[in-house]
Amino acid sequence: MLTVRKASMARCVLRVPGDKSISHRAALLGSLACGETTIQHYSPGQDCETTLRCVEALGGRVERLGETVVVHGTGELHEPGDVLDCGNSGTTMRLLSGILAGQGFLSVLTGDASLRSRPMRRIAEPLRLMGAHVDGRDGGERAPLVIRGGRLKGLEGYHMPVASAQVKSCVLLAGLFASGTTTIVEPAPSRDHTERMLPLFGASTCVMDGRVSVAGGQTLHGTAIDVPGDVSSAAFWLALGSMLPQSEVTVLGVGLNPSRAGLLDVLRRMGCRLDVHLTCHDPEPAADVRVTGNRLSGVEILPHDVPSLLDELPVLAVAAAMAEGVTVVRGASELRHKESDRISAIVENLCAMGAKIEERPDGFVIEGTGRLRGAGIRTRGDHRIAMAFAIAGLVADGDTVLDDVDCIDISYPGFIEVVNRISSGGDVFHG
Ligand code: S3P
Repeated sequence: MLTVRKASMARCVLRVPGDKSISHRAALLGSLACGETTIQHYSPGQDCETTLRCVEALGGRVERLGETVVVHGTGELHEPGDVLDCGNSGTTMRLLSGILAGQGFLSVLTGDASLRSRPMRRIAEPLRLMGAHVDGRDGGERAPLVIRGGRLKGLEGYHMPVASAQVKSCVLLAGLFASGTTTIVEPAPSRDHTERMLPLFGASTCVMDGRVSVAGGQTLHGTAIDVPGDVSSAAFWLALGSMLPQSEVTVLGVGLNPSRAGLLDVLRRMGCRLDVHLTCHDPEPAADVRVTGNRLSGVEILPHDVPSLLDELPVLAVAAAMAEGVTVVRGASELRHKESDRISAIVENLCAMGAKIEERPDGFVIEGTGRLRGAGIRTRGDHRIAMAFAIAGLVADGDTVLDDVDCIDISYPGFIEVVNRISSGGDVFHG
């Protein structure tokens, strides 16, 4: 349980944990590579630790040296002696399934109650088309998943039914073990960290006109990766800074891959003042981002905006409630398949805080009134819902009590300490 009180303003300069999506990929590709992969600023969240444990269960050796992780790859994986536990992590389960589909052994993957309720047919189907035996509860729709891997054949022009980077990456990783080339066609661009990272390991990919191809049979070599700060974690502080008058919040070294940076565009459209100072370009752009508090106005978030800010929608909904005017979010039904049904969680909790919000099958409409009142919040064990509503507590009148905040450690250990400091009026300098 966590009680959050309104803050009068926020003055912060801080860093956020390493990007979760990039960390997972670095560890998984490192486990497939020959030689050492050194990953600096590896995400300290539980999800990324889960991936490291799975790598170890598959025979990989991992050294944890504070924020640096070294994966010692031998170029081959071994049959795990037990079920692979992917915890709460959809990225671990879906990406690992792609890899395991190409291995000549049996694997069983499970996870917590949330992960076991999430859709898996979206990965089972393409993997079956490639020749893997994939089964699971409900005809392969839900974990536990059983994968009997082996020789795969490339998939030519697989049209993904949803814009999902996890599905895309799953198929690309399987494609590394397939004969011939595997090509995926995306309905809309999703995060492209896998495509950017494969060449660092010496593998070639081809990205053109919404099609991504990878050739099978390539050898990966260990490399060094410096993980930028997670923009999905930075989102909480940037949204807070934009809502509180006289605030100034700077987040240092935030990953600003264009396929992830939709939040900045939407905050600007809402009237937020943002300065972006690029610090690194290759292969993942990163920047110091500063926001100063301003009056926000409502905004329209359309289906094509959604993939680049999907995980940021819970905190954007809070900003929309604190803005003046109407915000409409459309084309975001994928939010219903995350760690919780996030549309339902946003609506329930914002209603409790006195916001005017209407639920839609693929999003919501908020009539911003510029104020929220403290309330009891049900986080549903979902880290992004918990953090979004801790931020809501910092701008709401009265006390906000969140029922379960342990889940925050999934992606952002240390988040609550920063909230408590801001709530008690202190400056934050974690440079
Ligand atoms: C992720 C992709 C997104 C995102 C998730 C992480 C990834 O999911 O919501 O938090 O690392 O590839 P989808 O691929 O299901 O859209």
